Amino acid sequence: GAPVEVDISTLNAGEMKTVEWRGKPVWIIKRTPEMIASLKKTDGKVADADSKRNPDEFTPEYARNEWRSRKPELMVAVGICTHLGCSPSSKFTPGPQPSLPDDWEGGFLCPCHGSTFDMAGRVFKNKPAPDNLQVPRYMFLSDTKLVIG
Ligand code: FES
Repeated sequence: GAPVEVDISTLNAGEMKTVEWRGKPVWIIKRTPEMIASLKKTDGKVADADSKRNPDEFTPEYARNEWRSRKPELMVAVGICTHLGCSPSSKFTPGPQPSLPDDWEGGFLCPCHGSTFDMAGRVFKNKPAPDNLQVPRYMFLSDTKLVIG
């Protein structure tokens, strides 16, 4: 598939945009400072905090850091659950919500079998999804433009 250019100039902090790349949804999320800070709190609760599992498939070299991204404030991930391919929903609001733990810090919930992912797409422990969400190949063309693929 062809690379996809994305204009992020209108994306505000806390907002998410979905684009299609190779028939897959790719999420682009502008993280708030709180979302970035939440990653420290979820470090001990996720199954693969340092994205060591299948890095060639799921975490390109530039995303093997605590944000799983090129820039801390921008999350880019394929919005497909690594369990059986459902599309997780965004649950950015921290705190108790149906199907989420009381100490929920914000992230994503897969409706199919309950896998949860943090604000870096890292899967929580003891969930059916075996891997963190895939970070696609991408780079920045400017501060407000990126290309996926
Ligand atoms: Fe997401 Fe099964 S497909 S938990």
